Amino acid sequence: MRTIKDDLQRKVSEALEGGGKKRIKSQHEKKKLTARERINYLLDENSFEEMGMLVTHRTSDFGMDKQVYYGDGVVTGYGTIDGRPVYIFAQDFTVFGGSLSETHAEKICKIMDQAVKAGVPIIGLNDSGGARIQEGVRSLGGYADIFYRNVQASGVIPQISAIMGPCAGGAVYSPAMTDFTFMVQNTSYMFVTGPNVVKTVTNENVTAEELGGANTHAVKSGVTHFTAPNDVVCLDQVKKLFSYLPQNNKLAPSKLAYVLGEEYCEELENIIPDSPNKPYDMHLVIKGIIDVDSFFEVHEQFATNIIVGFARLGGRSVGIIANQPMSLAGVLDVNSSKKAARFTRFCDAFNIPLLVLVDVPGFLPGTEQEWNGIILNGAKLLYALSEATVPRVTVITRKAYGGAYDVMNSKHIHADINYAWPTAEIAVMGAKGASEIIFKKEISEAEHPDQKLIEKEKEYADKFANPFEAAQRGFIDEVIAPKDTRRKLLKAFAILENKVVSKPDRKHGNIPL
Ligand code: HXC
Repeated sequence: MRTIKDDLQRKVSEALEGGGKKRIKSQHEKKKLTARERINYLLDENSFEEMGMLVTHRTSDFGMDKQVYYGDGVVTGYGTIDGRPVYIFAQDFTVFGGSLSETHAEKICKIMDQAVKAGVPIIGLNDSGGARIQEGVRSLGGYADIFYRNVQASGVIPQISAIMGPCAGGAVYSPAMTDFTFMVQNTSYMFVTGPNVVKTVTNENVTAEELGGANTHAVKSGVTHFTAPNDVVCLDQVKKLFSYLPQNNKLAPSKLAYVLGEEYCEELENIIPDSPNKPYDMHLVIKGIIDVDSFFEVHEQFATNIIVGFARLGGRSVGIIANQPMSLAGVLDVNSSKKAARFTRFCDAFNIPLLVLVDVPGFLPGTEQEWNGIILNGAKLLYALSEATVPRVTVITRKAYGGAYDVMNSKHIHADINYAWPTAEIAVMGAKGASEIIFKKEISEAEHPDQKLIEKEKEYADKFANPFEAAQRGFIDEVIAPKDTRRKLLKAFAILENKVVSKPDRKHGNIPL
């Protein structure tokens, strides 16, 4: 006689098989792990607690009542990563291509609601053919239910998306509203409409990979923050990112063990080149300041003229924003402003202090920038930093010119502690450009204009190509030796640890989106 226990056993075995051995084989042939393999790899061993394993869809149209799979194409539940609780869902491509039905959406919504109530981060592993075609508008409703919850959870719990297969149509908007997106090279893509529709509408010939593959979104659009060559590396990266984040907006990230790396501090003394026009790698400055091997760069391939990422200082998470002189001389443009603004807002929402390293010659001029809204986009960064209430510390390593000086966490927008290296140049613009404008008449009337320009350039540089004018006015709190930067920052962030800022009473500000 069959017992309920036997029934349960059978149902569980069926659920664990997803869409069956043949489809699992096909998933592996595409060099993709299955939903359950991904969850098991990401979470601590035996920590996964599944919810809704026996959920099935409720559709009978198009013969769907004869095709029923337990779990309905998504595995949901909770577990731990390095002992820290996390909610997770993984779409199962072996069941109806991971497509989203009404019940599939309900499962995701259920754990999203719980994650917010419990103050626990949520990770979504996406691998889906989009809306379940057999369900029509019910599926679209399911998507919107998820989108709404993404917005409610935003700034309350960290939300992470990994795209590990197709992600098309409106489905892309859920990852886009989460805090961080990962994509796997060659096996994932994201686009609003695929290559066939693109061909019909715009007559462009483009492959799925070119249109919305991992590299496209990492370099061109900035839609993805991270890319990985395969599922395993992608999940390793998710784990790493997770280690810098707190559980929710009421808590601070955990402090981890660290190695000091004093030897790198000394190297900072010789890092700034003699010529102000010569670049250097800001990554080396970061290395000379933070705990050994603790930098985790975000958006590494997008808008490379600014670096953003997480690091640890004395074991504590810190968000770093740094101009990169090696790329476009570290100038601020549309994309770098957007990139840094979004990162700033994440850190501020989740109690991660900000360190801003400045070497910026200004905003990028030109029609392309103006017509793409450098004014509005530059304002995003200015707004985001001005409203951030987490501890904010600035180090000016070299140039801090023009409006970009103000934007890059200056004292005037309420940064807490502002340092400058002796090599800092804080001025309206570089000495050459400034002299050409203010001494134009004198230079043109001189017997030797070239000589006069050099003379005037020196005069301007002597006055402004240093940190002293700013220090005299208190815009800089201290001029520090590069090798002391790490020591100073440790103390600065320690004293600011319990910083409190009261905000004006309002519904919300109106960031220039
Ligand atoms: C139901 C689907 C499905 C879907 C795939 N399948 N997509 N079932 N609804 N959306 C099923 C297939 O029938 C197949 O079932 C299995 O999943 C695997 O699909 P294949 O086509 O064999 O796999 P592959 O060749 O790898 O191609 C994957 C794919 C393709 C590129 C995703 O299946 C595809 O183009 N699907 C349709 C995508 C789509 O147009 N979705 C709607 C987008 S609009 P069997 O039984 O053979 O295993 C949208 C709107 C969202 O999503 C709006 C939100 C607001």
